[in-house]
Amino acid sequence: MASADRIRLVLLFGGRSAEHEVSCISALHVLRAIDPARFDVVPIGVTRQGRWLSAAESVAALPVAAPSLPSPDDESGPELDPMPTLLPARAGSGQPVVAFPLIHGPTGEDGTIQGLLETAGVPYVGAGVAASALCMDKGLAKRVLEASGLPLGRWLGLRGAEVNEGVAERVAETLGYPVFVKPANLGSSVGVTRVADGPDLAAALELALRYDEYLVIEEAITGREIEVAVLGNESPRPSLPGEIRPSHAFYDFEDKYLEDGAGLLVPAPLEPAQVEEVRSLALAAYRALQVDGMARVDFFLEEDGRGFLINELNTIPGFTPISMYARLWKETGLDYPQLVDELVSLALDRYHRRSGFETVRK
Ligand SMILES: Nc1ncnc2c1ncn2[C@@H]1O[C@H](COP(=O)(O)OP(=O)(O)O)[C@@H](O)[C@H]1O
Ligand SMILES: [Mg+2]
Repeated sequence: MASADRIRLVLLFGGRSAEHEVSCISALHVLRAIDPARFDVVPIGVTRQGRWLSAAESVAALPVAAPSLPSPDDESGPELDPMPTLLPARAGSGQPVVAFPLIHGPTGEDGTIQGLLETAGVPYVGAGVAASALCMDKGLAKRVLEASGLPLGRWLGLRGAEVNEGVAERVAETLGYPVFVKPANLGSSVGVTRVADGPDLAAALELALRYDEYLVIEEAITGREIEVAVLGNESPRPSLPGEIRPSHAFYDFEDKYLEDGAGLLVPAPLEPAQVEEVRSLALAAYRALQVDGMARVDFFLEEDGRGFLINELNTIPGFTPISMYARLWKETGLDYPQLVDELVSLALDRYHRRSGFETVRK
């Protein structure tokens, strides 16, 4: 294939998040999965401090047997400036470029990097700016989902400045204990506390407020945790559902990343009617939040109660081949290399579709 037809895939990984390691592992798997005849890969690592580094000169330089890409922590390496790194990638050789942001949490999944890529005119994998920001913010996402008539548990949104003596009573009246207290904009269960009763609320609020100025407080739902992977732009499709069986009291940080203790059931043991219901709810949530590319939609299933309740959408879910997102697609008939390929095509499709819009009055 002529080199002009090859796509330059800028893989952005690492980042300032508790999921830094997961991101490095995901990036390595994407690297291994893509077809070198079609893609030139430019891996760019972001350190835990937020510095951009060139992770490797070329794919060939990477140790293929390594369990993960080297964590971009080398503070002595040459620092890259985000904009100049991206802009020449587009303008340089006329070679098409696609960015694949694989950075979880704030600055990677929340619309900020997506905004940078929009400004640089670079097509990118995954949700756009607004959908990324909305899905990252648990309070805003719930408002949109509620307005779309989708089922959620009871919850309260608060700003730090609104936290006062009266909150414990308000929580008791509107939600009832136990509750979950969470920073609105974070992931990987960081800053999340399950509060059994009123006296413990203050400490949980204080903890969450160390991570964000907006909080959500949710009724604790007793139910199974079911997840659906969704893929696509204008015609998204849902995977078969999977189930998480946490080994801790809830699916916390240790479970997700440190101990590999949570059981993943793929597919989830559900009745056919439940499978159809949860897939259609996942699709409706994805559409309501105007997601492009991909998202993993997470549910609680309150059996003998309200049924499926949406917990949250993750626009950059864990992306290793054994992560739930990829496993669900494999179960649904799309293997990992095909999944990566489709995401890149979706990035280009969206870019071309959106470049067609007028920007001034004609
Ligand atoms: N309202 C709730 N009721 C019951 N369990 C919850 C609730 N909220 C969160 N959890 C538990 O905590 C985990 C992490 O919460 P989640 O909102 O998904 O945060 P994160 O964005 O960090 O993944 C969930 O997977 C679930 O096990
Ligand atoms: Mg979650």
